[in-house]
Amino acid sequence: MLIRPARFDDIEDIHSLLTYYANQGALLPRSRESLTAHLSQLAVAYAGGIIGGVAALHRLDSQVGEVRSLAVAPHLHKKGIGQKLVLYAVSQAELLGYQKVIAFTRQVSFFERCGFQPVARETVPVKYFLDCAGCPMLTHCDEIAMERALLIPLPEQNRVEYPASLTK
Ligand SMILES: CC(C)(COP(=O)(O)OP(=O)(O)OC[C@H]1O[C@@H](n2cnc3c(N)ncnc32)[C@H](O)[C@@H]1OP(=O)(O)O)[C@@H](O)C(=O)NCCC(=O)NCCS
Repeated sequence: MLIRPARFDDIEDIHSLLTYYANQGALLPRSRESLTAHLSQLAVAYAGGIIGGVAALHRLDSQVGEVRSLAVAPHLHKKGIGQKLVLYAVSQAELLGYQKVIAFTRQVSFFERCGFQPVARETVPVKYFLDCAGCPMLTHCDEIAMERALLIPLPEQNRVEYPASLTK
């Protein structure tokens, strides 16, 4: 399967896939409106006209991205598609200059194979303030915080120097 950025005409299939798992309590539900508004964060696994999987790289702050809305169609499990989607999100995060990617998940061994490691929740306070604090599961959340550190930021000498007239 090809991993590629999501397009507007994928929204219906993405929504169906995420709703399938949201109904089982495996994922948080996403509305079509939310998916459309955050289309640029989404990647899909695609082959032969079928959307087999989806993942989102969500911006928590300028340094931290989060893999969320990760799902692979049930009949396509255990073929490496989930790992490819996560590694695609990680490569996008590197391009965007994030210092780390996090995931809050019950799929610990799966994320470990994707290069993540469990961390204390307190090490990602931005997640707590943006999402957890208002979540009804706050006091009995069974998700594990995991992170993958990314490459060192671009050295100063490689930065583009813009003419002063462009930076005013
Ligand atoms: C979690 C999820 C995305 C994984 O998707 P996937 O495509 O099955 O993932 P992969 O195929 O990359 O890896 C899954 C397992 O298959 C195994 N696998 C990968 N390729 C394989 C192959 N060719 N043959 C046999 N096994 C294989 C992996 O070793 C892995 O094993 P593990 O779970 O014991 O570590 C999928 O199970 C899913 O959609 N779950 C429901 C939603 C969900 O829980 N999302 C995560 C929320 S954070």
